[in-house]
Amino acid sequence: MAYYTRALILALLSIFLSSALAAPMTYNVVSLGAKADGKTDSTQAFLSAWTKACASLKPATIFVPAGRFYLRQVAFSGPCKNNAIIIRIDGTLVAPSDYKVIGNSGNWLLFENVNGVTISGGILDGKGTGLWACKASGKSCPSGATTLGFSNSNNIVVSALTSLNSQMFHIVVNGCHNVKMQGVKVIASGNSPNTDGIHVQLSSSITILNSKIQTGDDCISIGPGTTNLWIENVACGPGHGISIGSLGKDQQEAGVQNVTVKTVTFTGTQNGVRIKSWGRPSNGFARNILFQHVVMVNAQNPIVIDQNYCPGNKGCPGQVSGVKISDVTFQDIHGTSATEIAMKFDCSSGNPCSRIRLENVKLTYKNQVAEASCNHAVGTSSGFVQPTSCL
Ligand SMILES: *[C@@H]1O[C@H](CO)[C@@H](O)[C@H](O)[C@H]1NC(C)=O
Repeated sequence: MAYYTRALILALLSIFLSSALAAPMTYNVVSLGAKADGKTDSTQAFLSAWTKACASLKPATIFVPAGRFYLRQVAFSGPCKNNAIIIRIDGTLVAPSDYKVIGNSGNWLLFENVNGVTISGGILDGKGTGLWACKASGKSCPSGATTLGFSNSNNIVVSALTSLNSQMFHIVVNGCHNVKMQGVKVIASGNSPNTDGIHVQLSSSITILNSKIQTGDDCISIGPGTTNLWIENVACGPGHGISIGSLGKDQQEAGVQNVTVKTVTFTGTQNGVRIKSWGRPSNGFARNILFQHVVMVNAQNPIVIDQNYCPGNKGCPGQVSGVKISDVTFQDIHGTSATEIAMKFDCSSGNPCSRIRLENVKLTYKNQVAEASCNHAVGTSSGFVQPTSCL
């Protein structure tokens, strides 16, 4: 009898243990000391959830329940012992409203050297208004923190996340491979300084889908070293539009190639689709770029290539851009321009833009035909193109 009881207990125990091993470990930040009151500092609780998830040998979930969690700067650092960490956020993460607390730390929430991290849901409240006011007053202010950064990381998913009022850039992807963002919302005032929605650089295989970005600077900015970037179904505005660049700030610089921007709307933005480079020597380039199915609603500069960027006329007067821009296609772009020049190609005299293609473009200004302006730009046009191509 005793033998059978012992055998039964051992059998039940082994069933229990094997099912426990198969299920992901879940770490609830509240169980680890976080408080959902929006003011108690929960930084340590989040860090301890991360440390446990990262040390887990099998998939791990960090769960952030509803409520507001106050966090100072947090670095979620790898490498980790598993490559399947899910951070499920039902609540809101709140940055310090005193911008001095994180304003000089570069990033508020930073993931670095991780592989296989999914962030699902949640609101990130960057509390940036104080810093914007400081910058507007002309006082000397910290440059501000990026709300959510990914650095040297692979296989990242961000879905259904909202970023509010970042001090500086909302989301930055730097040195990463295979990142997918979908259903992202960015909301900040149209006059908030340097609050780019999503910035990508030195990264490959990046996808941005089904997102809505209202901010004070670029909707999406694409920096040096970006390859295989796919942007689809994004609504931009207010803000400065989707920009490749600024490129060519440095003499030695990685190029940008294979970028697709399709089914995008620009509403009341400063620019629509833009490529921008500094007017100074560089070995950088931008090539194989497609802008397709784009709607402009009163964009000030719907189509722009500007290779004479030189803010404050410092560090570049009298020089020409070394950045080579080629194979850029604008296909099915229509809507309204808020200024007379709807299409402007101001390329480098030393490196004229080549193989620019315009196909089915119709942009109007005040119900009239708009204008196009070209400098050192070579290419072709086909289908219906208005304003008439100057290539
Ligand atoms: C261009 O990038 C897309 C992803 O955005 C990728 O599927 C495709 O293979 C890339 N093309 C080349 C020639 O690398």
